[in-house]
Amino acid sequence: MKTTLVAFMSLVAASTLVQAGPIAAFDQLRVFRHSEPERRLIQYGEDTPAKWMEQADIDNLFRAGVKFMDITDHQDLGAYSAFNSAWQPVIPTKVSYQDEVAPFIGNLTTVHMKSNLRAFTNFRTRYYKSSYGAKSCRWLIQQVKDVIDNSDADHVTVNEFPHSWDQFSIVARFEGSDEDLKDEVVILTDFLKSLVDNYADISYVSTKCGYACSDHASWRKAGFPSAFTIESAFEDSNHFIHTSDDTIDKLSFDHMLEFSKVASGFAVELSHKH
Ligand SMILES: *[C@@H]1O[C@H](CO)[C@@H](O)[C@H](O)[C@H]1NC(C)=O
Repeated sequence: MKTTLVAFMSLVAASTLVQAGPIAAFDQLRVFRHSEPERRLIQYGEDTPAKWMEQADIDNLFRAGVKFMDITDHQDLGAYSAFNSAWQPVIPTKVSYQDEVAPFIGNLTTVHMKSNLRAFTNFRTRYYKSSYGAKSCRWLIQQVKDVIDNSDADHVTVNEFPHSWDQFSIVARFEGSDEDLKDEVVILTDFLKSLVDNYADISYVSTKCGYACSDHASWRKAGFPSAFTIESAFEDSNHFIHTSDDTIDKLSFDHMLEFSKVASGFAVELSHKH
């Protein structure tokens, strides 16, 4: 069980760094864009009303580096907050289970990261609108399913979340055994800092994320507490992410190992009732 969790967390951490998300680079858009007359509903600020935009205007936002959410298919996401308002998660602000986490991070290596990423980066692209994007995603979910199947975990599920394009999102759920305890998503920045302080051999820096800057923004919009950890301050991060140059030779596996330690601590700490 422990070994398999370690493998799983390595995969998750690795994919966090390189997986092409819905916001892809403009060069890839040019290659794969079909003539879509369709307009999309775009929101690019907390207090800015959403606007229906044509693809050419959305391309201009990419070029200008403006972060936005395409809310066309899920316009009522923000309304779920009210539904969840009765839910009062207890959020830990610091780590408490160092002894339990130690053997997990002590056994982490970069072996699985390397073999998984070699396979993952061999897809011609992971761009979300291309058929390769869908294939790479199917490959990725299968790796996660294999890890779960080969473990004795009975409370971990992984599901496809479909979109109007071919690539689906992957939703992994670690459910508490106590049904009254909704501890699936209990995330805050102080807790992440404590994880880095205690489990990684390098320290954290704070960086400004901004509107719709990454996947956690949708969770936040839906009313879940959320926070975001990335490899470095934004200005120092891998600028090839979401481009066709996001290749394995530009990655630091030692740095990813540090990230995996944080991810392992995160999973073990939050598996406890708080
Ligand atoms: C690796 O895991 C085993 C089994 O949990 C544990 O006994 C051992 O101490 C771990 N190794 C390190 C270096 O943490």
